[in-house]
Amino acid sequence: MEDLFGGAAPYYAKFRPGYGQAAIEHLAETLGADSRVLDLGCGPGTIAIPLSRRVKAVLAVDPAREMLAEGRRLVEDVTNIAWVHGDSTVLRGLPPFEHVVMGRSFHWMDRRSVLMELDELLPPRGAVALIGPARQQGEPWQPDAQPWQPVERQVCEEFGLDIHTAANAFHATDEHHHDMLAASPFSSLESRVFSRRLTWNVDGLVGLQLSYSYSSPARLGDHLPAFVKTLRRALLADNPTGQWEQKLATEVLVARRPGR
Ligand SMILES: C[S@@+](CC[C@H](N)C(=O)[O-])C[C@H]1O[C@@H](n2cnc3c(N)ncnc32)[C@H](O)[C@@H]1O
Repeated sequence: MEDLFGGAAPYYAKFRPGYGQAAIEHLAETLGADSRVLDLGCGPGTIAIPLSRRVKAVLAVDPAREMLAEGRRLVEDVTNIAWVHGDSTVLRGLPPFEHVVMGRSFHWMDRRSVLMELDELLPPRGAVALIGPARQQGEPWQPDAQPWQPVERQVCEEFGLDIHTAANAFHATDEHHHDMLAASPFSSLESRVFSRRLTWNVDGLVGLQLSYSYSSPARLGDHLPAFVKTLRRALLADNPTGQWEQKLATEVLVARRPGR
C-alpha cells in the first residue's frame, strides 16, 4: 500500500486539480462548521486542506507517508488538521470523528466492511461523503474521455504500463458506489454535481501523468526520463497548440442513515 503512489505525491499535490470552491463549500455547509471530519485516503490534503478552513477539525488519514508529508509541507501553519498514518482497516483506533469524507479513495478499500464499521463509529447524524468524478449509473469507465488521453494511453502502452490497475479496473466492472451505499445503513443519498472547465499545458499534462499510481515515478524507475520525453513529444505532435481543454464534473455524494 505504501508504494501504491511511489514518488507521485509531489506531482499529485501540484498537478491534480482540486475539487473547486463550490464543491468544498457545499461539503462544508452539509457537514457543519462545528464538526470533526475524518478525511480517509486524504492524499496530500486535496479535501482536508480547504475543508479545514470551514470546519472545526480534520483528521487526515492515509497509508502513504509521502502523501502525508506533502500535505504537512503545504500547510505547516494550520493547526486543525491532524495528519495520521493509517488506512481503512484501523478506523477503530482513530480519535473520534462525526463525519467521513473520501475523495477518489473509497474504491481502494473493502467498501462493505468500511461502511459496516462506520455504522458502529459514526453518531446518528453522521454522514459519509464521497467526492470524485461524476459518473452516471451503469456508465462505463472511459479511459479516452479527455482529448489528450488516446495519446497518453499509447505512450503508456509503449512503456508497458498497465492503465487497468486494480482501481481502474474497478471503475469498469464493479458495483457503483451509489448502489453500495444504497444497500448499506447509509442509504439516504443526496448528490450534487459541480461542473468546471480547465485548460492544461504540456507540463501540466506530464505532471498529471506522473501523479497516477500506474505511471508513478517508482513504477517507471529508470525509464522515467525517457517516458517524460516521449510523452511530451507525442502530446505536442498530436496538438501543436500546446493547450488542452478539460470539462470536469465533480460529484459530492452525501449518504446518511434514513430519517436522520
Ligand atoms: C486517488 S488518491 C485521493 C487523494 C485525495 N483524497 C483526493 O481526493 O485527491 C487515493 C488515496 O487513497 C489512499 N488509499 C489507498 N488505499 C487506502 C485504504 N485502504 N484506506 C485509506 N486510504 C487508502 C492512497 O494512499 C491515496 O493517497
